[in-house]
Amino acid sequence: MWEYTDTVTEHFQNPRNVGEVENPSGTGDVGSLACGDALKLTLKIEDDRITDAKFKTFGCASAIASSSALTEMVKGMTVEEAEKITNEDIADFLGGLPKEKMHCSVMGREALEAAIADYRGLVLPMAEGEIVCECFGVTDLEVMRAVKESNLRSVEEITNFTKAGGGCGKCEDSLRELLMKTVSQDLKIVPVKEKPKKMTALQKIKKIEEVLEREVRPGLKKDGGDIELIDVDGDFVTVSLRGSCTSCAKSETTLKEYVEKKLREQVLDTLIVEEEK
Ligand code: FES
Repeated sequence: MWEYTDTVTEHFQNPRNVGEVENPSGTGDVGSLACGDALKLTLKIEDDRITDAKFKTFGCASAIASSSALTEMVKGMTVEEAEKITNEDIADFLGGLPKEKMHCSVMGREALEAAIADYRGLVLPMAEGEIVCECFGVTDLEVMRAVKESNLRSVEEITNFTKAGGGCGKCEDSLRELLMKTVSQDLKIVPVKEKPKKMTALQKIKKIEEVLEREVRPGLKKDGGDIELIDVDGDFVTVSLRGSCTSCAKSETTLKEYVEKKLREQVLDTLIVEEEK
């Protein structure tokens, strides 16, 4: 029998925010039923703030409590704040988890990352790693990241945090190798690699409008300028600078170094911004 804190028991017996948000802004689906743990997190995001969060999970008491805690933690946060949440934060919110159950908090953090990535039109690189543990479908990238972020020092700890190695045990040698490699080489794991998903033309225009409104316009307005989206044709984005921007000698630099950069970072890294002739 595991030793659970009162908060874990409370969230397990009375889970908050169970279900699915209608028309979610971002969805994170992690784990799999075949591996014994699965979590689907849906987020409603308005003006870059999480206004609603719901979950569906298949798993143990810790998985239910971690998912419930996660939804309570993120509601009301900005996306930027939410993406800083670690699995340790989820465990702390619950007053701690048994060490053998830390993978439940990791699953929560992974679902949150996946949902935020989905909101931003990105996919996470974990799916691209190589499966190292067949029993639980865990990749080498997931293992290396867990070792690095949670300072793991044994195969047993890797199992506690990722489940890898907790089945037939065939992967133990590979896990040990990954552990040594990660610790000795101080590998840098890039958490999110930008890889654009296919967007419809309408989705692309909407995203561009959102980024202009949220990230670009406030900065220009401070200096008495403004910007208007005129057209989107494939990767070409035509805009019109307004106010003091029209007479600014640096308008070309503003377009390339500021507007284009923001749109490439947050919408699609192939976009080319031009000014209306
Ligand atoms: S392959 Fe990892 S436990 Fe079976």
